Amino acid sequence: MDLKSLLERMTLEEKAALCTGLTPWDTVPVERLGLPSIIVSDGPHGVRRAPGGFSGDIVPATCFPTASALASTWDVELVRELGEALADECIALDVDIVLGPGTNMKRTPLCGRNFEYFSEDPHLAGRMAASLIDGVQSKGVGTSLKHLAANNQEEQRFTIDAQIDERTLHELYLAAFEYAVKEAKPWTVMCAYNRLNGTYASQNHYLLTEVLKDRWGFEGVVVSDWGAVHDRVAALAAGLDLEMPGPQPQRTRAIVEAVRSGDLDEAALDESVMRLLSIIDKAQQTPKGGVSIDIDAHHALARRIAAEAMVLLKNEGNLLPLHDASRIAVIGVAAKEPYFQGGGSSHINPTRVDSPFDELQKLAGDAVLTYAPGYAMDDSSDPALIEEAVALAGEADVALLYVALPPMKESEGYDRPDIDLMDHQVALIKAVAARQPKSVVILNNGSAVAMQDWIDGPAAVLEAWMMGQAGGGAIADVLFGKVNPSGRLAETFPIKLSDTPAYINYPGDLGKVRYGEGVFIGYRYYDTTGTDVLFPFGYGLSYTTFAYGNLRVSAETFKDVDGLTVSVDVTNSGAVAGKTAVQVYVHDHAAAVIRPDKELRAFAKVALAPGETKTVSFALDARAFAYYHAGHHDFVAESGAFDILVGESSADIRLSATVTLDATQTPPTKITRDSLFRDWRRDPQAYAVIEPILLRIVDFASKIDPSWTLENIGWADELLLESVFGFWGAQVLDDTPEQTVTDVLAQLHAEG
Ligand code: GLC
Repeated sequence: MDLKSLLERMTLEEKAALCTGLTPWDTVPVERLGLPSIIVSDGPHGVRRAPGGFSGDIVPATCFPTASALASTWDVELVRELGEALADECIALDVDIVLGPGTNMKRTPLCGRNFEYFSEDPHLAGRMAASLIDGVQSKGVGTSLKHLAANNQEEQRFTIDAQIDERTLHELYLAAFEYAVKEAKPWTVMCAYNRLNGTYASQNHYLLTEVLKDRWGFEGVVVSDWGAVHDRVAALAAGLDLEMPGPQPQRTRAIVEAVRSGDLDEAALDESVMRLLSIIDKAQQTPKGGVSIDIDAHHALARRIAAEAMVLLKNEGNLLPLHDASRIAVIGVAAKEPYFQGGGSSHINPTRVDSPFDELQKLAGDAVLTYAPGYAMDDSSDPALIEEAVALAGEADVALLYVALPPMKESEGYDRPDIDLMDHQVALIKAVAARQPKSVVILNNGSAVAMQDWIDGPAAVLEAWMMGQAGGGAIADVLFGKVNPSGRLAETFPIKLSDTPAYINYPGDLGKVRYGEGVFIGYRYYDTTGTDVLFPFGYGLSYTTFAYGNLRVSAETFKDVDGLTVSVDVTNSGAVAGKTAVQVYVHDHAAAVIRPDKELRAFAKVALAPGETKTVSFALDARAFAYYHAGHHDFVAESGAFDILVGESSADIRLSATVTLDATQTPPTKITRDSLFRDWRRDPQAYAVIEPILLRIVDFASKIDPSWTLENIGWADELLLESVFGFWGAQVLDDTPEQTVTDVLAQLHAEG
């Protein structure tokens, strides 16, 4: 399609109409010009094809594990494979763009949609999102990276104003989007409902145009979340290309009138239309329909992913994998009625659903399985159910407790009131574990839950997440050791809610939520403050063990332009094959800003046979050492010492090495009348020029106190120098409020 000529032949009305949906899931065609409509459909962990619009049946499709499970695999290749399968199902169901992945940060475990999001860490989330997008788009189907930005709570999600400082926004809440946009080029990006620093995301020019399109080079279409547009003309001017859902003829009229009145530059409309024509053209390159879903193959893939996502949190006495249990008590309604996905727009009509109980039976051999519901999937508590379960557990060799958070606890549209299991579920776990120490708790939940009240009881705990339709089989695979669990937490499990970093700022008040914790969410907060947690970010047990050795770096001192290569040997030091997620964190010894204790900067999932050793290498570029500098409006990697930390979790660092970055790209320090001496001294240019001046000061001072030398200017001395220097600097700078160091110092030098 010659898009430019197509654009030129479109009337103003046709162009305006294209920028709003025809239906909830279809764009407007232009029959006169042979421009077809394209179909979008929810995701993100399955195709929710709803031909009847908002009402009507949902076409069956594979319900894969949700994002919090995907991220727990730490396996980008596996997530890419999922993307490819999703694309196949889109093609079979006539869908051109799947609305996902969601990659909002898990700022608080209370967020009702955390099951749809990857992580508390932008590096892990960004790579998961990029892999999924790559997988889907490799087959000619589009994606929609969502929800840009700061959609971190469901509470008042349509109107809340997220108040985020520039550094926190870029370093934490935009970073995963930035990586995925630059690396995977999603066809579309979906804006969030909420406001960001006072302006709705749907009409936030800074977000949609300055950052997304101009700074990150996004060439796709910005689509609104459904109903997120408040002022269509303002939104279009801000960079919001497509409003959904349709039809909304009044929106088309508003655009036409705005262009005619001169309130909207027609060039802005043409820019959006060109972006839309481009993805419509791309969608046409891949014929849809005419094939059917490979239900069995995708069910098997869903099972493989779910098993790889499961995190073994506790395994006292190596109770798992089950080996010689001849009587197994299966307790929990979730064992018969599995809870494998969350509520809201991501809800899939599965092609089939594994019964955890039946799948267990298939692998249990001669073992006798008994069953008791144990609890109801609502907040009713019935002591008789607990008594029945306890009796069953007492007669068995091992008790398996399938415990799922009920739908009323976790869904799109509302947040959790707490991070606890239901009271009657806690009572059940405690009672059963008291009777049967060989108890295993299998959890189905979308985000961290508190376990302090009961974690000491059961011998083993397996986090199975929102595991998708094949999760029942995956649980059986892990319990019987057909799969060695290799999931690692992509979010911290805190001891209690009040320990969480956003606790005092969430959910905000008077329509605003202040991100007062800054960049310190998740392990960035817990590790920096030394706050104990139940299970740390990156944690997970295995049926084997892993040893780390021979950490080496490509250079002790390296330039930002060269980057750094880190290599480490990982050995399976146990008796069974297994996989682990090798994690690389960076710690900055000193910076102009306060930084988290450590930040994840690389990871790799590694499969090892017993006794096998593999060398894993990571390339760290300057960005891996950088923080976002609000003064420079960009990421800055400063010279200085950094620790490279390699391990199995943020709290289990096995090896470390200290390296020195020689930053040649650091932008010049802006010296203002408020600059501190340390700012003058931090900048290599400034320090080289002011050193002679400093020497004169030290020479004068040392006559009073011989201990004064340039090297040992102590903290107190520095304050003195700051006051002298600051005052002196202020004198010079009085009428030059802000310049680069070189300009000011050349001026100082010239004046002697
Ligand atoms: C919903 C969700 C978004 C979804 C869209 C279409 O409100 O926020 O994730 O893709 O609307 O259903």
